[in-house]
Amino acid sequence: MKLTNIKDKYDDKDGTLYGKKNIDESLALLFHENSKFTTHSMRKQGERIGAFSNPYVAERSSQPFKTYPGTEQIDLSVYEQVPHNAELFETIKRRRSIRDYKEDSTISLNELYVLLQYSYGVNVRQKMDSFGVDGHIGLRNVPSGGGLFPLELYVVIFKAHIPSGLYHFRSDSMCLEKIKEGEFMNELIQIIQAEPYVNMRSSSALFITTGILERQMIKYGDRAYRFMMQESGFVGMMMSLLAESLNLGSCMLGGYNDDKVNEFLEIDGVFETVNNLLVVGGKKD
Ligand SMILES: Cc1cc2nc3c(=O)[nH]c(=O)nc-3n(C[C@H](O)[C@H](O)[C@H](O)COP(=O)(O)O)c2cc1C
Repeated sequence: MKLTNIKDKYDDKDGTLYGKKNIDESLALLFHENSKFTTHSMRKQGERIGAFSNPYVAERSSQPFKTYPGTEQIDLSVYEQVPHNAELFETIKRRRSIRDYKEDSTISLNELYVLLQYSYGVNVRQKMDSFGVDGHIGLRNVPSGGGLFPLELYVVIFKAHIPSGLYHFRSDSMCLEKIKEGEFMNELIQIIQAEPYVNMRSSSALFITTGILERQMIKYGDRAYRFMMQESGFVGMMMSLLAESLNLGSCMLGGYNDDKVNEFLEIDGVFETVNNLLVVGGKKD
């Protein structure tokens, strides 16, 4: 898709609301739009990934790190003790992608609180005293370029003590806002390519991170795209570790039809777009 077509898409979605002038010639949006999966491109990519399974690639991927042969080596493995009482280190070490979950497990409200609030909830309010602005900036447990926090978190509940459906996390007030109630597993399985590796039907919730790029672009231009992706990574990692610390299984999902997921979330798919999917469920004994 070319920039002119994307501009048409902006106009459809009334870009003025988002400061269209900031993103008129945006390379970031051009890249984002052109790296979206459709059902067709996802299938094509799947075939290509399949063709990657051969001995040559397996051998190459068996060493995904650089080495500097012949240089002086300082062996750190003899210093492997971790600081005292540091459960964090055990959690980090235990984290693995889990793709099959305990069938009847529900996600508790406390687990939802921990996963959402500790990953992207506001935990410190700092008074903004620059430029005579009378307001507060809400800081979180992840760093953010310029403290501009471009991400939004949603959760699709499959099995919990609240009705199944799509919720938005209000990061400033620790609330879930119910966008729509219903059983959405069948619909999501059609637009997310999880099977056969990930047994999504056995999961209890799906966490979706979106980005509103303009929040950061207003200050950093196209470089904001890098910052937003880094921040999505921080949040994904944070949630994976939090899930592990709660003894829940989780797995990132990279194969999905972008615009169908955007439609499901009822977001425009241009100014706010899906970035990250993390499926969570109880661990099997
Ligand atoms: C961005 C991203 C997308 C991923 N997408 C999928 C996916 O669609 N399906 C899947 O089974 N695993 C997916 N994974 C998990 C990786 O396969 C997994 O992290 C990797 O094999 C290393 O294993 P580990 O997480 O257990 O350490 C994804 C991971 C990342 C970071």
